[in-house]
Amino acid sequence: MPTNQLGVTDGVLRSDYQKAVANYWNTNRNDPVNLRLGDVDGYYHHHYGIGDVDWSVLEGPETTRDDRVIRELHRLEHMQARFLIEQLGDVEPTDRVLDGGSGRGGTSFMVHERFGCRVDGVTISEYQVGFANDQAAKRGVTDRVKFHFRNMLDTGFDTAAFRSIWTNETTMYVDLFKLFAEFARLLKDGGRYVCITGCYNDITGGRSRAVSQIDAKYICNIHPRSEYFKALAANNLVPINVIDLTPQTIPYWELRAKSSVATGVEEPFLTAYKEGSFHYLLIVADRIVR
Ligand SMILES: C[S@@+](CC[C@H](N)C(=O)[O-])C[C@H]1O[C@@H](n2cnc3c(N)ncnc32)[C@H](O)[C@@H]1O
Repeated sequence: MPTNQLGVTDGVLRSDYQKAVANYWNTNRNDPVNLRLGDVDGYYHHHYGIGDVDWSVLEGPETTRDDRVIRELHRLEHMQARFLIEQLGDVEPTDRVLDGGSGRGGTSFMVHERFGCRVDGVTISEYQVGFANDQAAKRGVTDRVKFHFRNMLDTGFDTAAFRSIWTNETTMYVDLFKLFAEFARLLKDGGRYVCITGCYNDITGGRSRAVSQIDAKYICNIHPRSEYFKALAANNLVPINVIDLTPQTIPYWELRAKSSVATGVEEPFLTAYKEGSFHYLLIVADRIVR
């Protein structure tokens, strides 16, 4: 693809906002909260964790405490990905699935290992594309798991090419109506979309201060809860399962706040979740037959 004078590949990054998001993921590449956890077993995640914390990791010898906490945080992030994967439906090895906003590819590799299917990941960070494709090469799966420098709002993939699509903490970067229009185009009839996201609670009011602090940290635009369901309904995507994962993610944040890889965003997350202004939601929806 040709590049413009900013060194940006034409057509993928279409707004100054998208360039800023891409720049964030291209430059925040040494964040220990991602790298040290990924180094535990080679699955690099850029999402949060769910499940009960084994608080005994804080006990025992101080010299190995940090390592125990890192492993525990990573285990909880794996649990989150496994939970998402279980919602993807009956994916066959012959199916193709899409990871919208694939990061360093951790969930994509887990999905391929679970179903044997072909996985395409798209991200607007060229650095992440390179990192994840290197991981695919190390695993010997480059023919089955591929990462692309593409915009999930306009992927360029064929219509009805995918059995399932997921987004793991990526929808807060895009317009949901545009995103779900593209996903409805890409999904086969009856195909499944799975989303894990943070969204703000518009039942009790507008965006809270804590939610605004999270937005500022990640250059994102957290959507209200209602927006997801409006945008799904407008695009022939019908919810079959909605789970509020907020109670399951709070322990992860409490442990992370005590860890050496805390970034400072732990407090706004814990405040927002505990005051009820923010939810961690799983949404599963199926595409209406054309
Ligand atoms: C919080 S990370 C999540 C990464 C991954 N889903 C995971 O669970 O590890 C957000 C990701 O969304 C991607 N992203 C943001 N806007 C995008 C867009 N318009 N198209 C494709 N990817 C996008 C970023 O490049 C980054 O990879």
